[in-house]
Order: sequence, then C-alpha cells, then structure tokens
Amino acid sequence: MAGALGVKATPFTYAAHALGAAAAAMVLVWCIHFRGGLAFEAVNKNLIFNVHPVLMLIGFIILGSEAIMVYKVFPGLSHDTAKLTHLILHAIAIVLGAVGIYCAFKFHNESGIANLYSLHSWLGIGAISLYGIQWIFGFVTFFFPGAAPDVRRGALPWHALFGLFVYVLTLATAELGFLEKMTFLQSSGLDKYGAEALLVNFTALVVVLFGAAVVVAAVAPAAKVEEPEGYAPIPVIG
Ligand code: HEM
Ligand code: HEM
Repeated sequence: MAGALGVKATPFTYAAHALGAAAAAMVLVWCIHFRGGLAFEAVNKNLIFNVHPVLMLIGFIILGSEAIMVYKVFPGLSHDTAKLTHLILHAIAIVLGAVGIYCAFKFHNESGIANLYSLHSWLGIGAISLYGIQWIFGFVTFFFPGAAPDVRRGALPWHALFGLFVYVLTLATAELGFLEKMTFLQSSGLDKYGAEALLVNFTALVVVLFGAAVVVAAVAPAAKVEEPEGYAPIPVIG
C-alpha cells in the first residue's frame, strides 16, 4: 500500500513538525494567557486543570507523534537507534499522558466534581490503556527478549496498524476534550465568537491536520537512503 501512494514521507514530516509546533504554541497561549496559568498545587483549582490539555497535547500526542515518525524523519539512522528512540519517546509520552490525566482527576477531586462521567474521559482511559498495551507488545516482540524473526515479520504490519488506530483514538479523544471544555466555558458565558473560542477551535483544527500529516508520514515510504547490502528491517533467514 505504501508504495502505491506515490508520495514520500519527508514532506509530510515537515508539515507535521510545523503543525505540531503551532498546536503546542496555541495550547500554551490558551492555558497560560487566557486561562491564568499552570499549577500542580493551587487555591484556584482551574490552574490544576490547565495542566491537563497542555500535557495531553504536547506530552502525549506530540511526543507520541514524533516517536511514530522517527523512522521517516531520520531514514539514515541505524535500525537499532531508531527503534530505541521510538520506544523511549513513546515511554515518555505515556508517562506525561498519565501525569496529565492525574491532573484532570486531581482537579475534579479537589473541586468536588464527579470522575469519569463523559465519553471523553472513557475514550481517554481506553486510549492510554491501549497505548500502554501496544508499548508492552512492541517492547517484548521487537526489543527484549524479542520474538523469532518470522513472528516479528508477521507482527510488524499489525503493530503499525494497531499503533495508528490507537494514535487516531488519542486524537479523537483530544478533539472531544477541546469541544467539552469549550462547551462548559460557552455555557457559562464565554463569548462564542470571541478570541479565546476561536483560538481553541483553531487549535483543535490544527491538531486534526497534524494527525493527518503524521498518519500519511507513517504510511508513506521513507526517502531513499543507501542501505547496506542485504539490509532488511527484520533479517530474513534461511
Ligand atoms: C489524548 C488526550 C487526552 C486524554 C487521554 C484525556 C483523558 C481524560 C480523562 C481520563 C479525564 C477524566 C478525569 C476524571 O474523570 O476525573 C479527562 C477529563 C477532562 N479532559 Fe481530557 N484528555 C485528553 C485531552 C484533553 C484535551 C486536549 C482537553 C482540552 C481542553 C481535555 C479536556 C478535558 C476536560 C474538560 C475534562 C473534564 C471533564 C471530563 O471528565 O470529561 N482533555 N480527560
Ligand atoms: C505505544 C507505543 C507504540 C506505538 C503507538 C507504535 C507505533 C508504531 C507505528 C505507527 C509504526 C509504523 C511506523 C512506520 O512504518 O513508519 C511502528 C513501527 C515500529 N515499531 Fe512501534 N509503536 C509503539 C511502541 C513500540 C515499541 C515499544 C517497540 C519496541 C522496540 C516498537 C518497535 C517498532 C518497530 C521495530 C517498528 C518498525 C520500523 C520499520 O518499519 O523498520 N514500537 N510503531
């Protein structure tokens, strides 16, 4: 399928970097400038909530996206180094995502708000759990102890497919999160066409475009680099 697309991954990785940087800047401007800043401990509990979108977008989604794209961003990297970078970036993304979710719970608990009542929160728990399972399967199959070569070869397309599925689920969760927060704010009086509402809706739009660029970059073939004689991502034996 990748070859049939007729495009290389490289331009899509550039687009993804630019869109990711824009989304990161926009969520920071929103939470710091418009929503009053970030804090783990505060009398104003909203500041604890603000950590949630920042860590979920920059920590979980953007770092996870960079992890997915690493094979295409650095096509010249040795396969072992690329794999190690891929697994470490994903691990950091999961940890930051978990801290981000903890902040949403902390905000709810300290403000007397119920937990896990929304579709957003259910999909969010589902997404990060599947992400964790995907990481463990990837680690065991491709890193340590590592499965037999033909098992790896069979598992790889499923790893990529399931990885992209889980990734799209995290994007959908974030979209619902933006929508939910905007709906809360707008029903308590925030100007529907004001600067803040436009900023947040455009952030969510940029996240959609970012995700699309990452998926195409993952599916499209890497730029051609000279590979050593007989190179294959997973060695063929026999
Ligand atoms: C993939 C990224 C995300 C995941 C996995 C995620 C996950 C979660 C979870 C599990 C909760 C429930 C906390 C509780 O019940 O105490 C929650 C709450 C919340 N999140 Fe997110 N979130 C993500 C991104 C975002 C983003 C980008 C926003 C944008 C503002 C957001 C807005 C909210 C809001 C408003 C709540 C409180 C209301 C509710 O529980 O639905 N989330 N999130
Ligand atoms: C939740 C974590 C993970 C996600 C979402 C994920 C996702 C992906 C995706 C989408 C691809 C396809 C990339 C492409 O073809 O350009 C991929 C490739 C790969 N991943 Fe993961 N991955 C995760 C964790 C891991 C872990 C822990 C390992 C262990 C080393 C691993 C090893 C690999 C390998 C070997 C490839 C193939 C690279 C190639 O085509 O040469 N992944 N992953």
